[in-house]
Amino acid sequence: MIHVIDAGNRHLYGAELEQHFRIRHQIYVGERKWMALERADGREVDQFDNEDATYLLAIENGRVIGGTRLVPTECPHLMADVFPFLADVRGLQRGSDIVEWTRIFVVPERRGGDSKVLHTVMAGMFEHCLANHISAITVVMETWWMPRFLELGWQVRPLGLPTMIDGMNCVGTIITVSEEAYRRTLAFKGIEAPVILSRRGAKRAPGERRIPHG
Ligand code: COA
Repeated sequence: MIHVIDAGNRHLYGAELEQHFRIRHQIYVGERKWMALERADGREVDQFDNEDATYLLAIENGRVIGGTRLVPTECPHLMADVFPFLADVRGLQRGSDIVEWTRIFVVPERRGGDSKVLHTVMAGMFEHCLANHISAITVVMETWWMPRFLELGWQVRPLGLPTMIDGMNCVGTIITVSEEAYRRTLAFKGIEAPVILSRRGAKRAPGERRIPHG
């Protein structure tokens, strides 16, 4: 259900990536009113949507229903380039084994307590990180996420003090990638592992059936 898309396989996901940029515009500009992201072409794309970005998209019958983005912290990224003051206490965390997490979303009709989409995307993020020797994830987040992450048993540490940005209470944090965080995220919603269907461009053609192992 979760497809990992990066520079190596994005040519196989042109339609889904495009769909996702338009959904991001509907959600972040239309719904959340982050008007600085508004674009006349109806695509929400920023300076970090480049070839360094990895997207994790929840795709169901060709429809994108959720997703998120990871950017290497050794490359330009949101916390370092736009909000470095959010890491004022512990300092920016950068390294080949640290990624930055941004733009988590679920389409409105698939949100809420009965839905598994958000947790499947987050489990996909841990699954991807564990498979790629990524040990930590930094994130610029609104503080209301904190109890949600702690409820999942994640190890989340602030890098600086909570700060109001455009009317939102935000904090820079670092999340430890662990097998335990992955398992607990899956268990929270009774999600079966693995959640990543295609890691490196193994997308099946429309109508092609999945052959069970072997
Ligand atoms: N402010 C404060 N709390 C929020 C919130 C917001 N903007 N969005 C969600 N929450 C919290 C609330 O506690 C909410 O419970 P409530 O509806 O009883 O208030 C709870 O999260 C569940 O959120 P919900 O939207 O029902 O479903 P979800 O957990 O499946 O999805 C999101 C959560 C954030 C993925 C989804 O709301 C979404 O896509 N939002 C738009 C994108 C976004 O804001 N992403 C985060 C910043 S990148």
